[in-house]
Amino acid sequence: MNADFLWGGAIAANQVEGAWKDDGKGESISDHITAGTKTSPRRFTKEVREGEHYPSHHAIDFYHHYKEDIALFGQMGFQVLRLSIAWTRIFPMGDEEKPNQKGLDFYHAVFAECKKWNIRPLVTLSHYEMPYHLCQAYGGWQNRKVIDFFLRYCRTVFTEYQDEVDLWLTFNEMNTLVSRFGTLLGAGILPEDGADMFGLGRMQTPETKEEMQARFQALHHQFVASAKAVALAHEINPKNRVGCMLSAAGVYPYTCSPDDMLEAQWQMKKSNWFCGDVCIRGAYPYYMERFFEENAIAIVSKTEDADILKKGCVDFFSFSYYTSRCVTRNAEVQKTAGNMMLGVQNPYLKASEWGWIIDPKGLRYLLNAIYDRYQIPVMLVENGLGAVDQLTEDGCIHDDYRIAYLKAHIEQMKEAMKDGVDLIGYTPWGCIDLVSASTGEMKKRYGFIYVDLDNEGKGSGKRIKKDSFYWYQKCIASHGEEL
Ligand code: BG6
Repeated sequence: MNADFLWGGAIAANQVEGAWKDDGKGESISDHITAGTKTSPRRFTKEVREGEHYPSHHAIDFYHHYKEDIALFGQMGFQVLRLSIAWTRIFPMGDEEKPNQKGLDFYHAVFAECKKWNIRPLVTLSHYEMPYHLCQAYGGWQNRKVIDFFLRYCRTVFTEYQDEVDLWLTFNEMNTLVSRFGTLLGAGILPEDGADMFGLGRMQTPETKEEMQARFQALHHQFVASAKAVALAHEINPKNRVGCMLSAAGVYPYTCSPDDMLEAQWQMKKSNWFCGDVCIRGAYPYYMERFFEENAIAIVSKTEDADILKKGCVDFFSFSYYTSRCVTRNAEVQKTAGNMMLGVQNPYLKASEWGWIIDPKGLRYLLNAIYDRYQIPVMLVENGLGAVDQLTEDGCIHDDYRIAYLKAHIEQMKEAMKDGVDLIGYTPWGCIDLVSASTGEMKKRYGFIYVDLDNEGKGSGKRIKKDSFYWYQKCIASHGEEL
């Protein structure tokens, strides 16, 4: 790989920072979600309840450990660190006029630490960090007013950090807003008090028309907000480069029946291309019209929106890749659980302990498909294996399974680059162990660095280098040659 390729890792505020009330931080939706497990879903509570465990409240306490953690990233040779700003540290409720100075100071300190190690920050503006107040009082993204609150936040951080940050992402996994996971992004549909947060237990039940309408309306407002943010970032600092961020997966037909082929083609459009087309081409794609009509979805927009979308196209495409999906129109075939989106078991592939299908070659396929479609730089900003690690008696973690996973994916990235894909960087997810978004567990670990905390948040919090730490260090130093 060439020397300009950006190697690094990725984290998100609500999954690492903790310090959920420190220095004036407000409550985000994430702060209202309890811990869960693979089999018992995370629950949403309206009020933060005594005696419940909310993993985001303390997470891995990056808020107080950032110097040590960034030093470890620096030792690995990171050139880029993808992290998010917690909107609630800057505007605790979301609708204030003035930002919270202490929140701004914290990220200045974080970026200064990155600079010491020559690490370029890549900042996600919104990673599952919607101010809770905006959901309660305004109905989240369903309300157009939220666009203005978001832009006030964007203007503040673009201006404040213009000498420290020039790489940005708007919304994390924006395309999941229209899935049940969208609650986290602030789609404005809060579950009942105490209910399963992501509706994972209801995955097989079709969504109601009202839910679908609400989610697509919320997504429209995010499209407009994202496009305006891109234009604003360019205006404030012409050097800024802004990407969209999607959860992407290659979709395969289960059989070569034309029905399955059509289903796979439609799923690629609906789950991968729709949001990409709006953010990169600046307009709703033709194929969504029929879907909206057949599902009685009527998006309320303003006449100026078309122009806003056209003028706010992103500079690069970024995405998370963990898995591929296999689909069929044959109702007899058993669906698999495990991932956010249902699929059927692919007989050629194995799954992780959490049921996520592992498919390195699927990454090459997807990278080619993305680049074929958009012809703009592509960055893989999340990828990795969530697995249980064993700390040995002499204090080591021999995570050869993680090394094998990452190696296989990097090999396929290289193939894709040989195919001609303009892949500009790679930031594996959870480069330091963090709280899992879907289950709230600590034991679903992705890191090169072990954090001594258990699912209840108990432990010393000590950071320990895993075998994969040294492996990745070598990989970066050799520009991906030594795997
Ligand atoms: C992505 C999210 O969906 O997947 C991350 O952007 C998340 O926030 C990651 O942590 C892995 O998922 P999980 O559920 O294993 O944490």
